Amino acid sequence: DMQKKIAVILGDGIGPEVTQQSIKVLDAVARQFKHQFFYEHCLMGASAIDKTGDALPGETLQICHRSDAVLLGAIGHPRYDNDPSAKVRPEDGLLKLRKELGLFANIRPITTYAPLQHLSPLKSSRIEGVDFVIFRELTGGIYFGNKQLNEDKTEASDDCIYHRDEIVRIAHLAFAYAQQRRKVLTLVDKANVLETSRLWRKVVQEMSTQYPDVTVNYLFVDNAAMQIIINPKQFDVILTENMFGDILSDEASVITGSIGLLPSASVGNKLALFEPIHGSYPQAAGKNIANPNGSILSAAMMLDYFGLAEEAELIREAVHWNLANGFLTKDIDSINNYSTATIGDLVSDYVENRIPSRMN
Ligand code: IPM
Ligand code: MN
Repeated sequence: DMQKKIAVILGDGIGPEVTQQSIKVLDAVARQFKHQFFYEHCLMGASAIDKTGDALPGETLQICHRSDAVLLGAIGHPRYDNDPSAKVRPEDGLLKLRKELGLFANIRPITTYAPLQHLSPLKSSRIEGVDFVIFRELTGGIYFGNKQLNEDKTEASDDCIYHRDEIVRIAHLAFAYAQQRRKVLTLVDKANVLETSRLWRKVVQEMSTQYPDVTVNYLFVDNAAMQIIINPKQFDVILTENMFGDILSDEASVITGSIGLLPSASVGNKLALFEPIHGSYPQAAGKNIANPNGSILSAAMMLDYFGLAEEAELIREAVHWNLANGFLTKDIDSINNYSTATIGDLVSDYVENRIPSRMN
Protein backbone atom coordinates (compact mmCIF):
# COMPACT_ATOMS: atom_id res chain seq x y z
CA ASP A 1 0.00 0.00 0.00
CA MET A 2 1.25 3.29 -1.14
CA GLN A 3 0.63 6.86 -0.01
CA LYS A 4 0.94 9.68 -2.51
CA LYS A 5 0.26 13.40 -2.46
CA ILE A 6 -1.29 14.67 -5.66
CA ALA A 7 -1.64 18.36 -6.51
CA VAL A 8 -4.80 18.86 -8.56
CA ILE A 9 -5.25 21.77 -10.93
CA LEU A 10 -8.77 21.53 -12.33
CA GLY A 11 -8.15 24.53 -14.57
CA ASP A 12 -10.54 26.06 -17.08
CA GLY A 13 -13.39 24.99 -19.37
CA ILE A 14 -13.92 21.22 -19.28
CA GLY A 15 -10.81 20.80 -17.10
CA PRO A 16 -12.79 20.39 -13.85
CA GLU A 17 -15.36 17.89 -15.12
CA VAL A 18 -12.86 15.56 -16.83
CA THR A 19 -10.43 15.70 -13.91
CA GLN A 20 -13.21 14.81 -11.47
CA GLN A 21 -13.55 11.52 -13.38
CA SER A 22 -9.84 10.79 -12.97
CA ILE A 23 -10.11 11.42 -9.25
CA LYS A 24 -13.10 9.08 -9.12
CA VAL A 25 -11.04 6.40 -10.89
CA LEU A 26 -7.98 6.99 -8.68
CA ASP A 27 -10.21 6.63 -5.62
CA ALA A 28 -11.50 3.34 -7.00
CA VAL A 29 -7.90 2.17 -7.48
CA ALA A 30 -7.08 3.27 -3.93
CA ARG A 31 -9.98 1.27 -2.50
CA GLN A 32 -9.25 -1.79 -4.59
CA PHE A 33 -5.49 -1.91 -3.98
CA LYS A 34 -5.39 -0.33 -0.50
CA HIS A 35 -3.47 2.79 -1.49
CA GLN A 36 -4.00 6.29 -0.18
CA PHE A 37 -4.06 9.29 -2.48
CA PHE A 38 -4.24 12.74 -0.89
CA TYR A 39 -5.36 15.58 -3.14
CA GLU A 40 -4.52 19.23 -2.74
CA HIS A 41 -6.37 21.54 -5.08
CA CYS A 42 -4.77 24.65 -6.52
CA LEU A 43 -5.38 27.30 -9.17
CA MET A 44 -3.81 27.97 -12.56
CA GLY A 45 -4.85 29.54 -15.86
CA ALA A 46 -7.83 31.78 -16.57
CA SER A 47 -9.63 30.80 -13.35
CA ALA A 48 -6.50 31.74 -11.39
CA ILE A 49 -6.28 35.10 -13.20
CA ASP A 50 -9.94 35.78 -12.34
CA LYS A 51 -9.42 35.04 -8.64
CA THR A 52 -5.88 36.28 -8.02
CA GLY A 53 -4.75 38.28 -11.06
CA ASP A 54 -1.95 35.77 -11.54
CA ALA A 55 -1.94 32.81 -13.98
CA LEU A 56 0.27 30.82 -11.58
CA PRO A 57 -0.18 31.93 -7.97
CA GLY A 58 2.77 31.30 -5.66
CA GLU A 59 0.62 29.04 -3.50
CA THR A 60 0.06 26.72 -6.46
CA LEU A 61 3.80 26.36 -6.98
CA GLN A 62 4.29 25.57 -3.29
CA ILE A 63 1.58 22.93 -3.33
CA CYS A 64 3.03 21.33 -6.47
CA HIS A 65 6.55 21.32 -5.02
CA ARG A 66 5.42 19.42 -1.94
CA SER A 67 3.46 16.85 -3.97
CA ASP A 68 4.51 13.58 -5.59
CA ALA A 69 2.75 14.43 -8.84
CA VAL A 70 0.44 17.00 -10.41
CA LEU A 71 -2.84 16.17 -12.11
CA LEU A 72 -3.94 18.93 -14.48
CA GLY A 73 -7.24 19.37 -16.32
CA ALA A 74 -6.88 21.99 -19.02
CA ILE A 75 -6.25 25.70 -19.18
CA GLY A 76 -7.18 28.48 -21.57
CA HIS A 77 -10.03 30.86 -22.26
CA PRO A 78 -11.12 32.37 -25.59
CA ARG A 79 -11.11 35.92 -24.25
CA TYR A 80 -7.28 35.87 -24.32
CA ASP A 81 -6.80 34.19 -27.68
CA ASN A 82 -7.31 37.10 -30.03
CA ASP A 83 -5.86 39.75 -27.80
CA PRO A 84 -2.17 40.17 -28.68
CA SER A 85 -1.76 42.85 -26.02
CA ALA A 86 -3.18 40.85 -23.10
CA LYS A 87 -0.94 41.44 -20.07
CA VAL A 88 -1.47 38.04 -18.49
CA ARG A 89 -2.40 34.83 -20.28
CA PRO A 90 -3.57 31.49 -18.94
CA GLU A 91 -0.80 29.77 -20.96
CA ASP A 92 1.87 31.77 -19.11
CA GLY A 93 0.90 29.84 -16.00
CA LEU A 94 1.52 26.49 -17.67
CA LEU A 95 4.84 27.53 -19.21
CA LYS A 96 6.05 28.91 -15.89
CA LEU A 97 4.90 25.79 -14.04
CA ARG A 98 6.81 23.53 -16.46
CA LYS A 99 9.95 25.61 -16.02
CA GLU A 100 9.70 25.98 -12.24
CA LEU A 101 9.03 22.28 -11.69
CA GLY A 102 11.78 21.29 -14.14
CA LEU A 103 9.45 19.20 -16.30
CA PHE A 104 11.84 18.84 -19.21
CA ALA A 105 10.32 15.85 -21.00
CA ASN A 106 6.81 15.80 -22.40
CA ILE A 107 5.72 12.26 -23.28
CA ARG A 108 2.77 11.80 -25.62
CA PRO A 109 1.80 8.25 -26.62
CA ILE A 110 -0.15 7.90 -29.88
CA THR A 111 -2.11 4.67 -30.20
CA THR A 112 -5.13 3.70 -32.25
CA TYR A 113 -8.13 1.73 -31.04
CA ALA A 114 -9.56 -0.89 -33.39
CA PRO A 115 -13.23 -0.09 -32.58
CA LEU A 116 -12.66 3.58 -33.40
CA GLN A 117 -10.69 3.26 -36.61
CA HIS A 118 -13.51 4.73 -38.69
CA LEU A 119 -13.11 8.04 -36.83
CA SER A 120 -9.64 8.66 -38.15
CA PRO A 121 -9.20 10.98 -41.12
CA LEU A 122 -6.66 8.42 -42.37
CA LYS A 123 -7.45 5.10 -44.06
CA SER A 124 -7.76 2.14 -41.68
CA SER A 125 -4.96 0.30 -43.50
CA ARG A 126 -2.60 3.13 -42.61
CA ILE A 127 -3.46 3.41 -38.94
CA GLU A 128 -4.07 -0.19 -37.80
CA GLY A 129 -1.62 -0.91 -35.02
CA VAL A 130 -0.08 2.56 -34.90
CA ASP A 131 1.79 2.80 -31.62
CA PHE A 132 4.42 5.44 -31.06
CA VAL A 133 5.49 7.90 -28.40
CA ILE A 134 6.65 11.47 -28.83
CA PHE A 135 9.33 12.74 -26.45
CA ARG A 136 9.14 16.51 -26.68
CA GLU A 137 11.71 18.70 -24.92
CA LEU A 138 9.60 21.01 -22.75
CA THR A 139 11.64 23.63 -20.90
CA GLY A 140 14.05 24.98 -23.51
CA GLY A 141 14.32 26.19 -27.07
CA ILE A 142 12.35 29.00 -28.65
CA TYR A 143 9.60 28.88 -26.01
CA PHE A 144 12.01 30.08 -23.34
CA GLY A 145 14.60 32.14 -25.21
CA ASN A 146 14.89 35.90 -25.01
CA LYS A 147 11.87 37.66 -26.56
CA GLN A 148 12.13 41.13 -28.00
CA LEU A 149 10.00 43.75 -29.66
CA ASN A 150 11.68 46.93 -30.83
CA GLU A 151 10.47 50.34 -29.73
CA ASP A 152 8.32 51.16 -32.74
CA LYS A 153 6.93 47.62 -32.63
CA THR A 154 8.00 46.76 -36.18
CA GLU A 155 10.51 44.02 -35.41
CA ALA A 156 10.31 41.05 -33.08
CA SER A 157 12.53 38.13 -32.20
CA ASP A 158 12.48 34.90 -30.20
CA ASP A 159 15.82 33.26 -29.49
CA CYS A 160 16.14 29.50 -29.76
CA ILE A 161 18.88 28.20 -27.49
CA TYR A 162 19.83 24.68 -26.42
CA HIS A 163 22.63 23.55 -24.14
CA ARG A 164 23.89 20.00 -24.69
CA ASP A 165 22.88 19.05 -21.12
CA GLU A 166 19.26 19.84 -22.00
CA ILE A 167 19.51 17.47 -24.96
CA VAL A 168 21.34 14.73 -23.07
CA ARG A 169 18.82 14.40 -20.23
CA ILE A 170 15.77 13.93 -22.43
CA ALA A 171 17.66 11.81 -24.96
CA HIS A 172 18.57 9.36 -22.17
CA LEU A 173 14.90 9.02 -21.29
CA ALA A 174 13.94 8.49 -24.94
CA PHE A 175 16.70 5.93 -25.58
CA ALA A 176 15.80 3.99 -22.42
CA TYR A 177 12.15 4.05 -23.40
CA ALA A 178 12.94 2.79 -26.90
CA GLN A 179 14.89 -0.08 -25.35
CA GLN A 180 11.70 -1.22 -23.60
CA ARG A 181 9.78 -1.08 -26.89
CA ARG A 182 10.64 -1.80 -30.52
CA LYS A 183 14.08 -0.15 -30.21
CA VAL A 184 13.75 2.49 -32.89
CA LEU A 185 14.43 6.13 -32.05
CA THR A 186 13.75 8.89 -34.57
CA LEU A 187 15.31 12.28 -33.96
CA VAL A 188 13.29 15.00 -35.66
CA ASP A 189 15.12 18.26 -36.36
CA LYS A 190 15.97 20.84 -39.00
CA ALA A 191 19.70 20.16 -39.11
CA ASN A 192 19.96 21.32 -42.72
CA VAL A 193 19.19 24.86 -41.53
CA LEU A 194 19.40 25.33 -37.76
CA GLU A 195 22.51 25.32 -35.57
CA THR A 196 20.49 24.09 -32.57
CA SER A 197 19.35 21.12 -34.66
CA ARG A 198 22.93 20.30 -35.62
CA LEU A 199 23.79 20.23 -31.91
CA TRP A 200 20.84 17.89 -31.23
CA ARG A 201 22.04 15.58 -34.01
CA LYS A 202 25.64 15.54 -32.79
CA VAL A 203 24.69 14.85 -29.18
CA VAL A 204 22.21 12.10 -30.10
CA GLN A 205 24.73 10.53 -32.48
CA GLU A 206 27.35 10.43 -29.72
CA MET A 207 24.91 8.99 -27.20
CA SER A 208 23.75 6.28 -29.58
CA THR A 209 26.94 4.28 -28.90
CA GLN A 210 25.69 3.82 -25.32
CA TYR A 211 22.51 2.22 -26.70
CA PRO A 212 23.81 -0.16 -29.36
CA ASP A 213 20.55 -2.10 -29.46
CA VAL A 214 18.57 1.00 -30.49
CA THR A 215 18.38 1.94 -34.17
CA VAL A 216 18.52 5.71 -34.59
CA ASN A 217 16.91 7.45 -37.56
CA TYR A 218 17.19 11.13 -38.36
CA LEU A 219 14.38 13.03 -40.05
CA PHE A 220 13.94 16.67 -40.99
CA VAL A 221 10.81 18.09 -39.41
CA ASP A 222 9.08 18.92 -42.71
CA ASN A 223 9.55 15.34 -43.88
CA ALA A 224 8.48 14.04 -40.46
CA ALA A 225 5.21 15.98 -40.79
CA MET A 226 4.54 14.08 -44.03
CA GLN A 227 5.67 10.69 -42.72
CA ILE A 228 3.29 10.91 -39.74
CA ILE A 229 0.41 10.98 -42.24
CA ILE A 230 1.84 8.72 -44.97
CA ASN A 231 3.17 5.92 -42.78
CA PRO A 232 2.68 6.47 -39.03
CA LYS A 233 3.37 2.76 -38.31
CA GLN A 234 7.09 3.28 -38.96
CA PHE A 235 7.55 5.20 -35.71
CA ASP A 236 8.39 3.82 -32.30
CA VAL A 237 9.89 6.69 -30.27
CA ILE A 238 10.17 10.19 -31.73
CA LEU A 239 12.54 12.59 -29.97
CA THR A 240 12.40 16.29 -30.76
CA GLU A 241 12.82 19.83 -29.48
CA ASN A 242 10.12 21.97 -27.91
CA MET A 243 8.34 23.68 -30.79
CA PHE A 244 8.65 20.85 -33.33
CA GLY A 245 7.21 18.55 -30.66
CA ASP A 246 4.32 20.91 -30.02
CA ILE A 247 3.35 20.92 -33.68
CA LEU A 248 3.97 17.24 -34.46
CA SER A 249 2.12 16.02 -31.40
CA ASP A 250 -1.03 17.89 -32.42
CA GLU A 251 -0.68 16.49 -35.92
CA ALA A 252 -0.18 12.97 -34.56
CA SER A 253 -3.13 13.29 -32.20
CA VAL A 254 -5.65 13.31 -35.07
CA ILE A 255 -4.57 9.82 -36.17
CA THR A 256 -6.54 8.32 -33.28
CA GLY A 257 -9.75 10.01 -34.39
CA SER A 258 -10.49 11.90 -31.19
CA ILE A 259 -8.13 14.19 -29.37
CA GLY A 260 -10.26 13.47 -26.29
CA LEU A 261 -8.57 10.10 -25.84
CA LEU A 262 -4.96 11.11 -25.57
CA PRO A 263 -2.98 11.41 -22.34
CA SER A 264 0.38 13.00 -21.62
CA ALA A 265 3.06 13.11 -18.97
CA SER A 266 5.57 15.88 -18.35
CA VAL A 267 8.42 14.59 -16.27
CA GLY A 268 11.41 16.05 -14.50
CA ASN A 269 13.94 14.71 -12.03
CA LYS A 270 11.77 15.16 -8.95
CA LEU A 271 8.19 15.52 -10.07
CA ALA A 272 5.84 14.84 -12.94
CA LEU A 273 2.64 16.36 -14.25
CA PHE A 274 -0.14 14.50 -16.03
CA GLU A 275 -2.73 16.05 -18.31
CA PRO A 276 -4.88 15.16 -21.31
CA ILE A 277 -3.53 16.70 -24.48
CA HIS A 278 -6.82 18.37 -25.37
CA GLY A 279 -7.51 21.97 -24.48
CA SER A 280 -10.15 23.58 -22.28
CA TYR A 281 -12.94 23.22 -24.92
CA PRO A 282 -14.96 26.14 -23.49
CA GLN A 283 -18.05 25.44 -25.64
CA ALA A 284 -18.59 22.17 -23.77
CA ALA A 285 -17.77 23.44 -20.28
CA GLY A 286 -20.29 22.41 -17.63
CA LYS A 287 -22.36 20.32 -20.06
CA ASN A 288 -21.17 16.90 -18.89
CA ILE A 289 -20.45 15.86 -22.49
CA ALA A 290 -16.65 16.06 -22.67
CA ASN A 291 -14.60 12.90 -23.14
CA PRO A 292 -12.80 12.15 -19.86
CA ASN A 293 -10.67 9.31 -21.28
CA GLY A 294 -7.68 11.54 -22.05
CA SER A 295 -7.64 12.60 -18.41
CA ILE A 296 -8.31 9.09 -17.09
CA LEU A 297 -5.48 7.68 -19.22
CA SER A 298 -3.24 10.47 -17.90
CA ALA A 299 -4.05 9.28 -14.38
CA ALA A 300 -2.99 5.79 -15.54
CA MET A 301 0.35 7.25 -16.69
CA MET A 302 0.66 8.78 -13.22
CA LEU A 303 0.21 5.35 -11.64
CA ASP A 304 2.91 3.96 -13.95
CA TYR A 305 5.15 6.78 -12.76
CA PHE A 306 4.43 5.72 -9.15
CA GLY A 307 5.46 2.18 -10.11
CA LEU A 308 1.88 0.89 -9.96
CA ALA A 309 1.93 -0.93 -13.29
CA GLU A 310 -0.89 -3.37 -12.56
CA GLU A 311 -3.21 -0.58 -11.46
CA ALA A 312 -2.35 1.51 -14.54
CA GLU A 313 -2.97 -1.42 -16.84
CA LEU A 314 -6.33 -2.08 -15.23
CA ILE A 315 -7.45 1.48 -15.98
CA ARG A 316 -6.35 1.13 -19.61
CA GLU A 317 -8.19 -2.16 -19.83
CA ALA A 318 -11.33 -0.48 -18.51
CA VAL A 319 -11.07 2.34 -21.04
CA HIS A 320 -10.57 -0.17 -23.88
CA TRP A 321 -13.54 -2.17 -22.64
CA ASN A 322 -15.77 0.93 -22.75
CA LEU A 323 -14.60 1.85 -26.23
CA ALA A 324 -15.12 -1.68 -27.52
CA ASN A 325 -18.57 -1.97 -25.95
CA GLY A 326 -20.05 1.29 -27.17
CA PHE A 327 -19.72 3.35 -24.00
CA LEU A 328 -18.70 6.48 -25.86
CA THR A 329 -18.97 10.20 -25.37
CA LYS A 330 -20.56 12.62 -27.81
CA ASP A 331 -17.30 13.50 -29.59
CA ILE A 332 -17.12 9.88 -30.75
CA ASP A 333 -20.78 8.93 -31.10
CA SER A 334 -23.22 11.78 -31.72
CA ILE A 335 -26.32 9.56 -31.39
CA ASN A 336 -25.85 6.96 -28.66
CA ASN A 337 -23.63 8.56 -26.11
CA TYR A 338 -22.90 8.67 -22.42
CA SER A 339 -22.05 11.58 -20.18
CA THR A 340 -18.63 12.52 -18.85
CA ALA A 341 -19.65 11.41 -15.35
CA THR A 342 -21.09 8.10 -16.56
CA ILE A 343 -17.84 7.18 -18.30
CA GLY A 344 -16.01 7.96 -15.06
CA ASP A 345 -18.46 5.72 -13.15
CA LEU A 346 -18.02 2.88 -15.66
CA VAL A 347 -14.24 2.97 -15.46
CA SER A 348 -14.35 3.09 -11.64
CA ASP A 349 -16.82 0.24 -11.59
CA TYR A 350 -14.60 -1.85 -13.84
CA VAL A 351 -11.61 -1.15 -11.62
CA GLU A 352 -13.47 -2.19 -8.49
CA ASN A 353 -15.69 -5.02 -9.60
CA ARG A 354 -14.49 -6.63 -12.78
CA ILE A 355 -10.87 -7.54 -12.76
CA PRO A 356 -10.76 -10.08 -15.58
CA SER A 357 -7.13 -11.00 -14.97
CA ARG A 358 -8.12 -12.12 -11.46
CA MET A 359 -11.46 -13.64 -12.35
CA ASN A 360 -10.06 -16.31 -14.64
C1 IPM B 1 0.68 22.16 -25.32
C2 IPM B 1 0.07 23.52 -25.51
C3 IPM B 1 0.97 24.55 -24.88
C4 IPM B 1 2.30 24.52 -25.61
C5 IPM B 1 0.42 25.98 -24.85
C6 IPM B 1 -0.93 26.01 -24.17
C7 IPM B 1 1.37 26.95 -24.22
O1 IPM B 1 -0.17 23.79 -26.85
O2 IPM B 1 0.81 21.72 -24.17
O3 IPM B 1 1.05 21.53 -26.32
O4 IPM B 1 2.45 25.13 -26.66
O5 IPM B 1 3.21 23.85 -25.11
MN1 MN C 1 0.37 22.17 -28.19
